[in-house]
Amino acid sequence: EHFLIIMAGGIGTRFWPISRSSNPKQFHDVLGVGKTMLQQTAERYAGIIPQENIYVVTSEEFADLVQTQLPYLKSDQILKEPQRRNTAPCIAYAAYKIGKKHPNATLVVAPADHVILKEEIFRTKISLAIETAQGNSLVTLGILPTRPDTGYGYIQFQTGDQEAKTVKTFTEKPHLELAQAFLESGDYVWNAGIFVFTIPTFKRELEKNLSRLAEQFDEGESVYYTSEENDFIRKVYAVCKSISVDNGIMEKAQDVKVILADIGWSDLGTWKSMYEIHEKDVNQNVITGNVLTYDSQHCIIRTPSSKLVVIQGLNNFIVAEHDNALMICPKDQEQEVKKFVEAATNLD
Ligand code: GDD
Ligand code: MG
Repeated sequence: EHFLIIMAGGIGTRFWPISRSSNPKQFHDVLGVGKTMLQQTAERYAGIIPQENIYVVTSEEFADLVQTQLPYLKSDQILKEPQRRNTAPCIAYAAYKIGKKHPNATLVVAPADHVILKEEIFRTKISLAIETAQGNSLVTLGILPTRPDTGYGYIQFQTGDQEAKTVKTFTEKPHLELAQAFLESGDYVWNAGIFVFTIPTFKRELEKNLSRLAEQFDEGESVYYTSEENDFIRKVYAVCKSISVDNGIMEKAQDVKVILADIGWSDLGTWKSMYEIHEKDVNQNVITGNVLTYDSQHCIIRTPSSKLVVIQGLNNFIVAEHDNALMICPKDQEQEVKKFVEAATNLD
């Protein structure tokens, strides 16, 4: 049996002020398509994974949002984390919980905040990944890199004809020179952040590489799916290690496979990446809201529909308003967003 684990506990701060720690981007309709990123993520697996096998792992404070956006989920399918501990504990929790009832299930683990434009190809690749995972490998999807981005994991694969390629090395978020060298070498792809494995394979790797986490979640065997689960999880999360699955497992694991996937993937990490794939008007503006623009080009404007916004003579800017915050920032200075988030947190 196959299960989907959606990781939806991140806070996506680079998308400030739309994405706030109180309401991060996975719960927004970032692309203006009428569905939030979380809803799109869940729907992408229709026909492969039944709704009763979709689990979402998120912060306690977002559980109601998840329930509202995916009303068909039963409360057992929303895993509530009392703290953010990064992705290794998040996956471990889901694997040990689901493993109680379905010890040999296959898990597809996916981030809640990605865009995949070529859905048909994507489903073919996921089906192949599920099949490949039956051979006890950790399976990933690889994206052809287009720039030396230091925000991704880099996967070096063994060249050859097979669709599921043997992984030689996995390097999470390399520094720039290394990323540059990987890009030039031609046998590296970006890690798309989607992982497929059977529960026994994941447990094997967790025990080998993060054995304390394995013990901590294994101790919950008798409480998963009972009224004691939340208390147990609070105690584990209070003390467990915070580490990503990429650093904690993927970099060290032996038996990893990668499937190259030309699926129109974007992790929508930044305003610019959103601009690139969003539909634009004749002036190359991306506009959501009640906005009149004159002599303005290449802007992203995202304002509440309740307010008329008029823009004159503005080029290459981001204008984004949400709740009590308004940001006006040149598009090529968006890396400064971190600074605003920090300042705003101190005011909140
Ligand atoms: N439940 C839960 N709890 N989810 C979390 C937590 C947590 O503590 N931390 C992060 N997430 C969710 C995020 O919401 C996101 O959907 C996903 O897990 C991945 O976390 P990110 O923090 O966005 O990771 P990243 O983008 O830096 O790196 C990962 O993705 C890249 C592709 O976008 C890595 O897997 C890289 O190797 C990969 O290239
Ligand atoms: Mg990410």
